[in-house]
Amino acid sequence: MTDVVEATALRRTFGARVALEGVDLRVAQGDFLAIMGPSGSGKSTLLGIIGGLDTSYQGSLKLFGQATSVLSDRELSLLRGKRIGFVFQAFFLLEHQSVLDNVLVPSLFVPRTDAKTAALQALDRVGLADRAADRVDTLSGGQRQRVAIARAIAHQPSMLLCDEPTGNLDKETASRIVEIFASLHREGTTVICATHEDRLAEVATTTLRLSEGRVSKEQAS
Ligand SMILES: Nc1ncnc2c1ncn2[C@@H]1O[C@H](COP(=O)(O)OP(=O)(O)OP(=O)(O)O)[C@@H](O)[C@H]1O
Ligand SMILES: [Mg+2]
Repeated sequence: MTDVVEATALRRTFGARVALEGVDLRVAQGDFLAIMGPSGSGKSTLLGIIGGLDTSYQGSLKLFGQATSVLSDRELSLLRGKRIGFVFQAFFLLEHQSVLDNVLVPSLFVPRTDAKTAALQALDRVGLADRAADRVDTLSGGQRQRVAIARAIAHQPSMLLCDEPTGNLDKETASRIVEIFASLHREGTTVICATHEDRLAEVATTTLRLSEGRVSKEQAS
C-alpha cells in the first residue's frame, strides 16, 4: 500500500513551549488512525501539520508521496482542497447561513459543476438532508458537528482528518458519528482522527498515543 502520510522527526514549538518532538508517522492509504492522548499532548498540532494548515514546523512531511516543502502555498491549498477533508475541533461554521451553503464552502475554493448534488448527498449521509435550507444557528450541537462532517466529505476526499469529532456529544449522536467514519473507511477513505472516544479507537486500524508531544505508543488494533 502507498503511504499517504510520511512524516519524519516532526518538531513544533510555540515560543519556548515544545508542542511536538521527534514524531515519526506513516499512514498507508485506507488506514484508520486514531490519535489519542491527554489534553495538550499535541494532537491538534499534529493534525494541523498533516493537513497542511501549519507549515511552521521542523522535520519532513510527504503527502501522497510528495514532499510538501517543495509546494507553494497555492499548490498546498489546492492539494488540500482536492484530496483532504478537515473536521475542526471548533467547527468554524457560518452561523447565519444555511446548512447547504456551509457545506458548499469548500467548492468556492475548488469549484466543481456538481457541487450542489455532492453537498446534498453529503448531508443525506449525515442524516441532515431535511435541514439543508435551515440556518446553522437553529441547529443543535450534534447537528452542527454533522454539518461540519458533511462539509469535509462533500468533495469526496481521499483522506479525512478530524479533530475530536465526537467531543461534547451525547452517546447516541457520538455512535452515529463513529458509524459515519467507519463507513467512509470501509469505502476506502483514509481517516485520521484525534479523539478521546474509545469507540472511535475501536474502529481504527491503528492507534497512536501522544504524551507531551512525543509518541508514547503506536499499536495496531
Ligand atoms: N497557537 C498556539 N500558540 C501557543 N501554544 C500553542 C498553540 N497551539 C498549541 N499550543 C500548545 O501546544 C501544546 C499542544 O496543543 P494541542 O492543541 O496540539 O493539544 P491537544 O492534544 O490537541 O489538546 P486537546 O485534547 O485539549 O485538544 C499545548 O501545550 C498548547 O498550549
Ligand atoms: Mg486538540
